[in-house]
Amino acid sequence: MYYKLAPSILAADFTRLGEQVKEVYGAGAEYLHLDVMDGAFVPSISFGMPVIKSLRPCTRAVFDVHMMVEEPGRYVEDMKDCGADIITVQAEACTHLDRVVNQIKEAGLKAGVALNPATPVRSLECILGQLDMVLIMTVNPGFGGQKFIPYTLDKVRELKNMLNEQGLKTDIQVDGGVNAGNVREIIEAGANIFVAGSAVFGRDPSARTREFMDILKEYEK
Ligand code: DX5
Ligand code: ZN
Repeated sequence: MYYKLAPSILAADFTRLGEQVKEVYGAGAEYLHLDVMDGAFVPSISFGMPVIKSLRPCTRAVFDVHMMVEEPGRYVEDMKDCGADIITVQAEACTHLDRVVNQIKEAGLKAGVALNPATPVRSLECILGQLDMVLIMTVNPGFGGQKFIPYTLDKVRELKNMLNEQGLKTDIQVDGGVNAGNVREIIEAGANIFVAGSAVFGRDPSARTREFMDILKEYEK
């Protein structure tokens, strides 16, 4: 099993974005989590295509785009052109989730589906075999710096069991309130890709990335 850290640039210093992205990649974070918010699915508006496109030449990191956007199928081609590698859509934002997942895969990208804390894991049962990643939201989406919601760990365990039952090795990502203090418990529940915004950016992003990497290495076999 592999374990990856995906720093979320939402918490980065936007005046030094390129440098900060290079810093976390240099310290071992192979993914970069890009939170796109539309002011409709979630209250905030974050950033979109121009920012993602301008970051693409700065790093070889996997661009993990988290679309907190109504009907994200409208933007699959644009995100591909900006350099997205993985597109994760919120199940609650898609009227035709199967169609959107197929659009992402037909574009040659990896497809993820995110579930809000109150959305049951079982809602993905039919579509699980088509996904590269499931994102269990561990906060309500929309803002960085929120507190981890404890019951979401049970959802991670339930998802891991469902994947095992179906013989699937789909990645399980968690996002929201993840830090070096709770990541071990989350790993033990079954997740393998960890989004962290405020726990990475701020003071000394490379030291904080290395701290996460040291923990993840304890679990790699
Ligand atoms: C929340 C976003 C997260 C956010 C995480 O809606 O999807 O990716 O940046 O921030 P932290 O790690 O600070 O909770
Ligand atoms: Zn996110």
